[in-house]
Amino acid sequence: MPASPPTLRDRRDPLTSRLRGFGTTIFAEMSALAVATGSINLGQGFPDTDGPPEVLDAAVDAIRNGVNQYPPGPGLPVLREAITRHQRRFYGLEHDPDTEVLVTAGATEALAGALLGMLDDGDEVVVFEPMYDSYQACIAMAGATAVPVLLRPQPDGRYRFDPDELRAAVSPRTRLLLVNTPHNPTGTVLDPDELATIAEVAIDNDLTVVTDEVYEHLVFPGATHIPIATLPGMAERTVTISSGGKTFNTTGWKIGWMCGPAPLVAAARTAKQYLTFVNGAPFQPAIAVGLDLPDAYYDELAADLATKRDHLVTALDAAGFTTYRPQATYFTTVDIRPVEPDGDGVAFCRQLPERCGVVAIPNQVFYARPEHGRHLVRFACCKRLDVLDEAAGRLAGLAAGAPT
Ligand SMILES: Cc1ncc(COP(=O)(O)O)c(C=O)c1O
Repeated sequence: MPASPPTLRDRRDPLTSRLRGFGTTIFAEMSALAVATGSINLGQGFPDTDGPPEVLDAAVDAIRNGVNQYPPGPGLPVLREAITRHQRRFYGLEHDPDTEVLVTAGATEALAGALLGMLDDGDEVVVFEPMYDSYQACIAMAGATAVPVLLRPQPDGRYRFDPDELRAAVSPRTRLLLVNTPHNPTGTVLDPDELATIAEVAIDNDLTVVTDEVYEHLVFPGATHIPIATLPGMAERTVTISSGGKTFNTTGWKIGWMCGPAPLVAAARTAKQYLTFVNGAPFQPAIAVGLDLPDAYYDELAADLATKRDHLVTALDAAGFTTYRPQATYFTTVDIRPVEPDGDGVAFCRQLPERCGVVAIPNQVFYARPEHGRHLVRFACCKRLDVLDEAAGRLAGLAAGAPT
């Protein structure tokens, strides 16, 4: 009898070996848990209020006025020009909107385009951990290897890296240095000395730097965001990535961009054109309107979020955690061990909705070496104050049950 053809079940795992170990993201699991349990979702970082009306109206106008077909591959000129004005106004950086700016489907696609467009099999990328979860997956998809450098929490709430560890992480195979400031999940803003160290390592080893600056405008009083491209010798080797999602409360629009030297942007564009080709035509002119909003908009955005950060930090302190006060971003990390001596962040986050009706994210998922983040958990503050205060009330119950 001829052998019957193999069934799907007989075949090998259909997932590419490059993505083994990258299952469903914890964000999907935790957001589903929030819905299923009616919990307050302080897990995924998306705001629960709309962005500036000028920006929303501009998108509606664009839809009504026929901006509904494929935009040009590099993005609509009106947005690329607004991005160059923004880089000049806030940082004194100059870019040619035609060759040095690329509009992407969120910062996520800018990162994917940069990594897929510039990495070869066997290359290494030096990256700080914890890190935004798409970095490791994109590096793996590119056939490259992530070489992590640990950021360690300090008593002042900031995270720091050891410069010697950074230098030691560079090898002859290192192609890129991947930086994120202001940083998710730690809320740390790299200071001038840290940036200078990274720049020195990049220049000494002739490395390209890809820097993710999506939280550039969510910086609290006392800290200043400095794009690494502004340091001497860095503009010529840096791809700077950002997006409109965080700055204009439009995370669902997925309008991002990169700026950098033309050859680097061209390499990223080559990969990007086969990912989405283009996206979000009517949202592009709307984000352009946002980028030209007066300073008062940006000041209020940061001030409003600082108030929310304060409410969240107070609540987390009161719940009994060791809290690392962030300098920027939506996020605050806590060490759960004073509340949960076992310190298993994943188990803690899975139980939290049932224990007190709040959802958070275990930081372990942001590490290449998860043991470093086992006891850490991230909460987001980008919610209305009444929601944060309700969450505070719920979290207060944890302190009551904490070991004495
Ligand atoms: C550090 C970091 N980079 C990139 C992104 C993704 O940005 P976008 O939604 O524009 O793709 C996020 C979103 O949370 C982020 O935290």
